[in-house]
Amino acid sequence: MTAPTMKVTRELVRMACRAPSIHNTQPWAWRLTAADTVELYADRGRQLDQIDPEGRALTISCGAALHHLVVAAEGFGLVAGTHLRPDPDNADFLARIHLEPGETTDASVQTMAALENRMTDRRGFTDWEVPGTRLHHLADAATGWGAHALPVTDPGLAVRVGTLVEEAGREERENTDIATEQEDWIAHSPVDGVPVSNASPRPSGGVERSPDRFNPGASSARTGSSDALLLLFTSADDQSAWLATGQALSAIWILAAQGGLSLTPETQVIEVARTRQQLRHSLLDDLGHPQVLVHVGWQESSRPPQVPTPRRDLEDVLLP
Ligand SMILES: Cc1cc2nc3c(=O)[nH]c(=O)nc-3n(C[C@H](O)[C@H](O)[C@H](O)COP(=O)(O)O)c2cc1C
Repeated sequence: MTAPTMKVTRELVRMACRAPSIHNTQPWAWRLTAADTVELYADRGRQLDQIDPEGRALTISCGAALHHLVVAAEGFGLVAGTHLRPDPDNADFLARIHLEPGETTDASVQTMAALENRMTDRRGFTDWEVPGTRLHHLADAATGWGAHALPVTDPGLAVRVGTLVEEAGREERENTDIATEQEDWIAHSPVDGVPVSNASPRPSGGVERSPDRFNPGASSARTGSSDALLLLFTSADDQSAWLATGQALSAIWILAAQGGLSLTPETQVIEVARTRQQLRHSLLDDLGHPQVLVHVGWQESSRPPQVPTPRRDLEDVLLP
């Protein structure tokens, strides 16, 4: 039986900060009110005002960090109970997490290890197919968090998605404010932003890189290749839905990493209101709200490991 201590709880927060975030902005702040109680806040100073004026991507990023914290706690043999949005008068207070003694299991330790290995690898996937059963298994991981994931297996719909992704990318590139904000977050600082080596990795293993927001000029349409696609969506489109999406994204990503699969989110198509609406219409019959599109595939097995993106020091993310 493990009991939470300040030292362990600080380590849990460090691991939570390994979560993915839009442009590696790490838009979160944490308060350790006791060894067994952690609070998660949105850091609005790190919101992308042009790309993400509503705070959707910021909140999804925080949801992913929250899920990471819970996974890390379980890996340490703790049980984490989460109370979402505990203060109705403070929208930035996203969650209070209470830690209780519990037991470690082999499964929880393995899941925690996958958290440290997860990363966004933009070097392009091989053309090995992702079996439908694997894709549906990943999609199922979204459900427990209040979000859903739709496998896009129909080739015609995948082409439609690819067209919308291209249109969204073009629209953002033509908007000087948005393009400048994205540029600012490439090699932003030694502790945040997307390093050039991760935004524009050198090709390796003979696999051609697919287009993405950091590399729009790549030759093959990513969605026209063998990438499998999942669309994360929710029934509402508010802060609670975005938090749920972040938790689901993290759950899917960690599960994918455990199974040797690689995952790359694509959110330009969500950020541009027009393409988000069209995606909603084409894939969800106007019934749900698209939140994140993810590409799933296999990396070339002989590739050297990628250098992880940096994170801020723990002291910088802890509130007094
Ligand atoms: C909400 C959200 C949106 C993202 N959107 C994109 C995207 O459109 N394109 C992309 O290449 N990566 C995207 N990412 C991945 C981030 O750039 C990545 O998580 C961050 O740089 C940290 O790197 P890591 O995932 O390797 O730890 C997104 C991540 C999150 C959480």
